[in-house]
Amino acid sequence: MTVRVIAIDGPAASGKSSTAGQVAERLGWAHLDSGALYRALTLAALDNLGEGGRRKGEEWPAQQVVDLAGRLPVRLVLAGNSFRPEVAGADVEQAIRGERVTRFVSVVAAMPEVRTWVNTQQRRAVGGMEVGGGVVVDGRDIGTIVFPEAPLKVFLTATPHERARRRLFQRGQAVDVELVRRESQALEARDAADSNRRVAPLKPAQDAVLLDTTALTLEEQVTRVVELARARFPG
Ligand code: CDP
Ligand code: CDP
Repeated sequence: MTVRVIAIDGPAASGKSSTAGQVAERLGWAHLDSGALYRALTLAALDNLGEGGRRKGEEWPAQQVVDLAGRLPVRLVLAGNSFRPEVAGADVEQAIRGERVTRFVSVVAAMPEVRTWVNTQQRRAVGGMEVGGGVVVDGRDIGTIVFPEAPLKVFLTATPHERARRRLFQRGQAVDVELVRRESQALEARDAADSNRRVAPLKPAQDAVLLDTTALTLEEQVTRVVELARARFPG
């Protein structure tokens, strides 16, 4: 018997992590945020491989990033019911959310060797869990590449304007017209980078349930996914 997996994918700030975390809590399952691992790797690279690698066309060699990740190490550690990112033994859950990491993470995530490394960590983390419950994993390629056998795959969307509004509110920033416009441009640029890359582009799996959350509250979308989970995993 293998661990049961729910895959939640979608563009930036569509509500993946909040939804995955709350669905996991309601089901008594674990939560794994795969974006946190890409962010932790990006933080480690920025801190250890020099700022030069940030310039377009001068990115660090992917193998250097992967070697660094193994050496430090960059890891996912199960604490309670959620996997937390660690760099060299320190919890980096807060540090990885800053602007510096956000601006560069899509470049690191486009490196095929990095993706292979991250996928191995995710599968190992899930494979090492005690069988009984299950795990809700969120990201961009969970349903298409990492866990294509997951019995339930959900693809969340919302308009760029609504996602920008949510992200500003989440950060405690003013939600004025100009800030929403700028944030929505930044989100769309990252979505474009994630959707147009050669390896594992952001897209719904063929058998994913599409959920437009633009007009939903977080509570409503969590309930919707829990209902789908109860139907797909009876008992
Ligand atoms: O929270 P937000 O949606 O802004 O981003 P995230 O889930 O923390 O992911 C950060 C970045 O990691 C994304 O923009 C992607 O470039 C990359 N990522 C990915 O390529 N594949 C995943 N499964 C998860 C994240
Ligand atoms: O993981 P991802 O980047 O897709 O999004 P998130 O970090 O889970 O959600 C971004 C913010 O939107 C959080 O503060 C959520 O509480 C909020 N949200 C919302 O306000 N309404 C929804 N229907 C869904 C999420």
